[in-house]
Amino acid sequence: MTVKPIVKSSTEEFYDDLASSYNDIIYRCAPRYEEMQMTMVDYVPEDLQPLRILDLGCGTGNLTLRVLESFQEAEVVALDLSVEILDVCRRQCGTDRVSYLQQDFNSLDLPESEYDLVVSSIAIHHVDDPAKQLLFQDVYNCLKPGGIFTYVDQFRGETPGIYQQHMKIWKQFADCKGIPPQEWQMWMEHQQQHDYHATVGQQMEWLRQSGFQQVDCLWKHILWTLLTARKI
Ligand SMILES: C[S@@+](CC[C@H](N)C(=O)[O-])C[C@H]1O[C@@H](n2cnc3c(N)ncnc32)[C@H](O)[C@@H]1O
Repeated sequence: MTVKPIVKSSTEEFYDDLASSYNDIIYRCAPRYEEMQMTMVDYVPEDLQPLRILDLGCGTGNLTLRVLESFQEAEVVALDLSVEILDVCRRQCGTDRVSYLQQDFNSLDLPESEYDLVVSSIAIHHVDDPAKQLLFQDVYNCLKPGGIFTYVDQFRGETPGIYQQHMKIWKQFADCKGIPPQEWQMWMEHQQQHDYHATVGQQMEWLRQSGFQQVDCLWKHILWTLLTARKI
């Protein structure tokens, strides 16, 4: 019998290596990180009392913890590609209300009509645009009717000029925060190798094409944008 070697994608290796230092870095590098996650939770409609929640690209579990706190009856499935970061997430959440799934957005295997709420923070831009469209369809299928998909992520500007301004303003933020040049360099190299930013308009359109309704933009700051969509 031949045993297939486990081949990790470079994104998986990047987040495996970053797992233990991720929290220090993300709070420094992502402007208004907590505000955007709080806004995501604040906008979950009052007529939805989510009992089953999926966190796509949970990382160390910062958003997972926020939804656990906001929806105290809910159980959360925390999904990520990186085993190492899932371990940090498990330690950080420390509750049996969370279960963990190692899956790749490119080949999701999710139960149909299972979740009331699907959330995601700064993760979906790691797959290319055709894969994003397939991912939106997977998310639609795994939601119950009435369920909400809400995510915050980095987006491209509508024009190259706006996108350049985004990058310039983000760099100014990084300089004000005193982020060391090598850390900024690491993010920029990661961005060139692993990130696929699409525009807000494109992503809203792909959500509608997947069957979602009530698609809206709830919050925006530089590259970071919060979208919501409902399965009716
Ligand atoms: C920038 S981190 C965001 C983590 C967390 N959601 C947060 O807001 O702090 C991106 C996460 O997406 C995960 N990720 C990247 N590509 C993925 C893929 N193809 N499938 C599943 N998870 C992926 C990474 O492993 C990483 O944990």
